[in-house]
Amino acid sequence: MNFTYYAPTEVVFGDDAERHTAEMLRKYGATKILLHYGGHSAQRSGLLDTLRRQLTDAGLEFIELGGVVPNPRLSKVREGIALCREHGVDFILAVGGGSVIDSAKAIGYGIPYQGDVWDIYARRAVPQTVVPVGVVLTIPAAGSEMSNSSVITAEGAQGEDLKRGYTNNLCRPRFAIMNPRLTFTLPPYQTACGVVDILMHTLERYFTRGNDMALTDALAESLMRTVIECGPKVLADPHDYAARASIMWASSLSHNDLTANRDLGDWATHGIEHELSGLYDVAHGAGLAAVWPAWALAVMDHAPERFTRLAVNVFGVPYDFTSTRNTALAGIRAAMDFFRRMDMPVNITELLGGRPASDEDIDLMARKCTAGGPVGRLVRLDTAAVASILHQANTNPLP
Ligand code: NZQ
Ligand code: ZN
Repeated sequence: MNFTYYAPTEVVFGDDAERHTAEMLRKYGATKILLHYGGHSAQRSGLLDTLRRQLTDAGLEFIELGGVVPNPRLSKVREGIALCREHGVDFILAVGGGSVIDSAKAIGYGIPYQGDVWDIYARRAVPQTVVPVGVVLTIPAAGSEMSNSSVITAEGAQGEDLKRGYTNNLCRPRFAIMNPRLTFTLPPYQTACGVVDILMHTLERYFTRGNDMALTDALAESLMRTVIECGPKVLADPHDYAARASIMWASSLSHNDLTANRDLGDWATHGIEHELSGLYDVAHGAGLAAVWPAWALAVMDHAPERFTRLAVNVFGVPYDFTSTRNTALAGIRAAMDFFRRMDMPVNITELLGGRPASDEDIDLMARKCTAGGPVGRLVRLDTAAVASILHQANTNPLP
């Protein structure tokens, strides 16, 4: 397969890495900075105060905008754009995870754009330039610290919340600062959601139509095995620095196109999940764990050799010489067992705390998910196919 590889983000990784924030801001030409963050975690850990002090000592001018929520909202993006224009901001420092980074990327698109920033997410406009973003990462999960994506939820659009991603190399962060120690404070649920999302970013890319990509497959399989090995370790011991470090680096490598360009992957599970988190405001990683088994069962017969390879090379399932299909099924079961070990849901009913998605909700999600045409690259899924997967995902698809 032909491809281009573009991963321009400078990574500063390791214990105390955040000490280099002011130095990175200077290096990338920041003169007036927006310090952008989420709820309370970065304040509580002392990280924000450390950064404020560091920027002040370095003589860097900054203003602040906090309050980004998980599944970040368009209203906060608009607030940020207005604030940045008023103060002449030329660089955005995102302190947090995928939600804060994606909000920062959206503000970065919106400042120089003359119209409403949602035009870009609604595919009505293509940005020509951005105000750049740098990152201090506090949760390894979305991979937004090196990715070219940003996912925003517009409140009330078309009568209901609409979660949409937009992909453009312009938004890739200039730098990403990653200190695994900053992730010690993550609650187990957020840790697990992150682990699932990381695994899934490589899995989505693994399910391409190619079967002769020896190096790419080997990289992908080793990344996934590492995440499967280290995930339970960080749940058992949140202060396991080495395991936290492997998970954190995997977050970036899983979504910086190392194991295939984004547009070569499948992404149906992500497309379907974005409807779940758009409608129910659930955590993205948990939503992925609830959808993937049903997706896998629906498409496995189109790519038996891929599913078998996943089972054997990633989940360590012994090859069943009497049946390739049984080997593939055992791999899907092993993935579900892994999600369970991470205390993640394996269906929508578990995701929503005991209630399944209603028929009306499923119809709505399937229609929104396929509004731009069928989703998925391995198998093209139309509205009916997505609805069928969502129905399957309501209960345990594999007992
Ligand atoms: O808001 P605060 O108080 O900071 O708490 C956050 C938030 O509640 C907390 N947290 C973060 N770092 C912490 C911490 N708590 C304790 N200690 C720390 N060190 O974690 C919670 C979740 O944060 P969030 O940023 O929402 O998580 P994540 O990184 O999983 O981002 C999820 C968003 O990214 C999108 C998802 O759809 C979702 O909207 N994605 C973005 C992608 C991209 N841009 O490339 C790709 C992904 O597939 C994904 O779709
Ligand atoms: Zn994801």
